[in-house]
Amino acid sequence: MKYYTFVLVLLQVLVSCNDVDEEYADFEISFEQPINFPTPTYDFEDNPITTDGFVLGRKLFYDNRLSLDNGINCSECHNQSHAFTHHGHDLSEGVHPGVFGTRNSQPIQNMAFMNDFTWDGAKDKLWDQPLIPITEEVEMNETMENVVAKLQEDSEYQQLFSTVFKLEDAINSVNLLKALSQFMGVMVSSNSRYDKYVRGEEGGVFTDLEKEGLALFQQKCATCHSGELFTNQEFINNGIGENTSLPDETGRARISSSNPFATVEELKASDDYYKFRVPSLRNVKNTYPYMHDGRLVLLSKVLDFYDDDTYPLMTKMNNLDSRLIQTNEDGTETLGISMTEDEKVAILAFLETLTDDEFINDERFANPN
Ligand code: HEC
Ligand code: HEC
Repeated sequence: MKYYTFVLVLLQVLVSCNDVDEEYADFEISFEQPINFPTPTYDFEDNPITTDGFVLGRKLFYDNRLSLDNGINCSECHNQSHAFTHHGHDLSEGVHPGVFGTRNSQPIQNMAFMNDFTWDGAKDKLWDQPLIPITEEVEMNETMENVVAKLQEDSEYQQLFSTVFKLEDAINSVNLLKALSQFMGVMVSSNSRYDKYVRGEEGGVFTDLEKEGLALFQQKCATCHSGELFTNQEFINNGIGENTSLPDETGRARISSSNPFATVEELKASDDYYKFRVPSLRNVKNTYPYMHDGRLVLLSKVLDFYDDDTYPLMTKMNNLDSRLIQTNEDGTETLGISMTEDEKVAILAFLETLTDDEFINDERFANPN
């Protein structure tokens, strides 16, 4: 009798594993650390990455039930072909057509290496971040309570959550967020031509122009867009200037203020006013439009923005980063970075080598449905 029960349980386990395997995962997932990358910040102890957890996270990422009236899912604003940004939108449109947020959607890539999340660092834990899009009115406008209730009605989710979190009734908001985080944690972009070039791998060939662009980039841009993530992860005012159509935008100042009720006028006095997290430039060719509000559509325009010749595109606030201010012999100041037109062409050519087609076409990250 005992033997039969054992065989039955074993069979059930095999069958249920097979279900998952057949439908979603014909692969094994583990976190792969690229040799040229820094130590991850992802908390592997608190939320270990497993194949089933990844599969569950991916299912959630592409599930409209995470939004009001089951209207949209995460990929609406984080589209794989654009390195998981919102194609064609400067500001992101959420579940209500015509209602826009105040920021440009960020790429979801290399999240396992970041210290803070979103443009202003509103969250410092990856698993905690999706709370914002799920509940924000301008994004998915749903409550965690409703999402959990919707998922609890689904037997497939019941099974997947139990498998991943090894307990019955495992569908709750924390586990939902943790599964999303396992999925996003694995989304590492590290196989661009640039990576192959620095790692000396096959296909890692640079033209002379791209080599020149890399050298110029290191000289002129890499103090902020530094290291293999192409960001020093600091909050910096790069002279982008206020967007008059978004009067409530204050950048990092809102987050670092000790007063949650501070007015915009008060936050203007903060040293963090209009500071944003230095964005990674990986896959930058595909993540247009650019800057926190998506105000620049072309990469060439971003270079014009930085070019000291095209000043006054740059706005001088008190906290403009000193690396973007040159003091001339006569004591006057020039804002921006000195670049010739030829140098801009070389930098652009280099930036395009950061495109990682393997990542953008990786079927493991695509919608499984
Ligand atoms: C309506 C569009 C929209 C939807 C839907 C959306 N996001 Fe986002 N996402 C954004 C925008 C805009 C930002 C930048 C937010 C900011 O800086 O305030 C962002 C930022 C992020 C970040 C931070 C990236 C970084 O580099 O720090 C993560 C992670 C993220 N979203 C995950 C998700 C997940 C998971 C979902 C689904 C549950 C989701 N998003 C749904 C628009 C969206
Ligand atoms: C002093 C620090 C600093 C330097 C130097 C710097 N940047 Fe930036 N860069 C930033 C910050 C901060 C932002 C985000 C500003 C915002 O969103 O409003 C940014 C944004 C960008 C973006 C937009 C990316 C996106 O996803 O929206 C690109 C492209 C870029 N920089 C390229 C460059 C290049 C090329 C150089 C050198 C010519 C350079 N940067 C020099 C700090 C810097």
